[in-house]
Parts: sequence; C-alpha cells; structure tokens
Amino acid sequence: MIVIGSTGLVGATLVRLLAAHPGISDVICPGRRPTAPISPNHRPVQIDFEDLETVNPEIFKAETLVSAMGTTLKKAGSPEAFRHIDFDLVFQFCKKAKSYGVQRMVLVSSEGASPRSRILYLKVKGDLENAIAELGFESFQILKPSLLIGDRQESRPLERFAMQMVAPLRHLFRGPLAAHRPILATDVASAAANAVLRPVQGIQIYSGDRLDQLARL
Ligand SMILES: NC(=O)c1ccc[n+]([C@@H]2O[C@H](COP(=O)([O-])OP(=O)(O)OC[C@H]3O[C@@H](n4cnc5c(N)ncnc54)[C@H](OP(=O)(O)O)[C@@H]3O)[C@@H](O)[C@H]2O)c1
Repeated sequence: MIVIGSTGLVGATLVRLLAAHPGISDVICPGRRPTAPISPNHRPVQIDFEDLETVNPEIFKAETLVSAMGTTLKKAGSPEAFRHIDFDLVFQFCKKAKSYGVQRMVLVSSEGASPRSRILYLKVKGDLENAIAELGFESFQILKPSLLIGDRQESRPLERFAMQMVAPLRHLFRGPLAAHRPILATDVASAAANAVLRPVQGIQIYSGDRLDQLARL
C-alpha cells in the first residue's frame, strides 16, 4: 500500500486507519519532508516528487496507491504552480507506480471536478481524474468530497468561514444537493480506507450519499 499526501488532513487519518488494520502489512508514505513512523508497518519515505528517477523503485512495489495529495492556489502561489503540484506531480507519481505494477488506485478528488470547469481548482482535478483513468488501472476509485470539515494547523480563512457557515446546515444537503454536503475529513479517510480494503473492478465514483455509505461500510 502506498499513500501520497499522507501528512494532510485526510491523509494522516487514512494512514492511522490503514496502519492499525491487521490485514495491511506495509503502509509506504512517500512525502516531501521527513516524518516519523507511527507504527511498525508505517514507512514514511522522503522523496523528490520533481525527480522520480532518483526514487528507490522499492517504494512502488505495492498493489494499491492512494492519493490525498494536493495544495491550494494560495499556497502554490500561481495558477501554473497549482497545476504543477495538483496535476503534474500527482499524475507522474501515479504513472510511475502503474509502470511498476500497481493495479489499484484510490484518488481523493473533489466534488465538481471536471475538465470543462471554468474554475481552475475543479478543472485541474477533472483533468487529473481523466488522465489517471487513461492509465488503465484495473480498479480506479474516485472519491469526490465537497467542503472538508476538520481541524487544520494552517490558516485557511475562506475555508474556515465556509465551514462555520455551512457545516451546521449539513442535514439540509439532501437529494440533488447531497453531493455538495460538507463532509468530515475523517469520513473521507474512512471511505478511502474502505475503498482500499474492498477494491472494485473498473472505475467507480463516490460522491454525496454514496461517499457517506462508503465511509460507513
Ligand atoms: N479542503 C477541502 O475542502 C477539499 C475539498 C474537496 C477536495 N479536497 C482535496 O482532497 C485532498 C485532500 O485534502 P486535504 O485537505 O487532506 O489536503 P491537505 O491537508 O492540504 O494535505 C495535502 C497533502 O499533500 C501534500 N503536498 C502538498 N503539496 C505537495 C508537494 N508540492 N509535494 C509533495 N506533497 C505535497 C502535503 O504534504 P505536506 O504535509 O508536506 O505539506 C499533504 O500531505 C486534496 O487533493 C484536496 O485538494 C479538499
């Protein structure tokens, strides 16, 4: 099992769930900075995402890859830098993993992601979904959460404002609005762990009620 984005809000919970699962022997976590292992089967590895040729091929030897990697436009600094991280770096990693024989992929993407979106964030996520689909993993499960609810160390004022306004109204997001319902980052992590543990053939997309159900399997 490989997890990229393992130090993020979703990724860190996911890694805790996977590392505690008796059926999972290895949770390899390539990241851009050094981190300490949380259990004997957790293997954080510092790598250069810009130069995967320098990465020890051993880290790609796994059945499944999960990506919860991504940044924000503000942190990236420009639209080009955002696309470089959220598309190029993630896609190149997935491509490399596929070439080493990884057969299953779970992607934490976003509700509304579409190559046709006029919103940069959603377009980049949509382009990434399509590009990974074309790699032809035997199982490709795409999780499409709306606004993530959770405690962040860093300040994201707009996200915090949206969370405070919308999270208490979660129950109103039903029927056609379900896909836009804010979701706990811990639920997205549970859904990703369940997707890993119960791989399904072909491409599967989870959003709204379906994503909630996957979290509660
Ligand atoms: N925030 C939302 O409301 C929301 C809604 C829908 C979908 N999503 C998507 O869901 C996914 C998970 O979100 P999240 O909030 O858990 O993310 P997050 O907390 O921002 O964590 C992002 C992860 O990506 C890594 N990362 C960022 N830039 C990197 C780079 N240049 N090279 C290598 N690693 C890099 C981070 O590593 P470091 O710890 O080293 O920074 C971290 O592990 C993301 O793809 C996000 O876009 C978010």
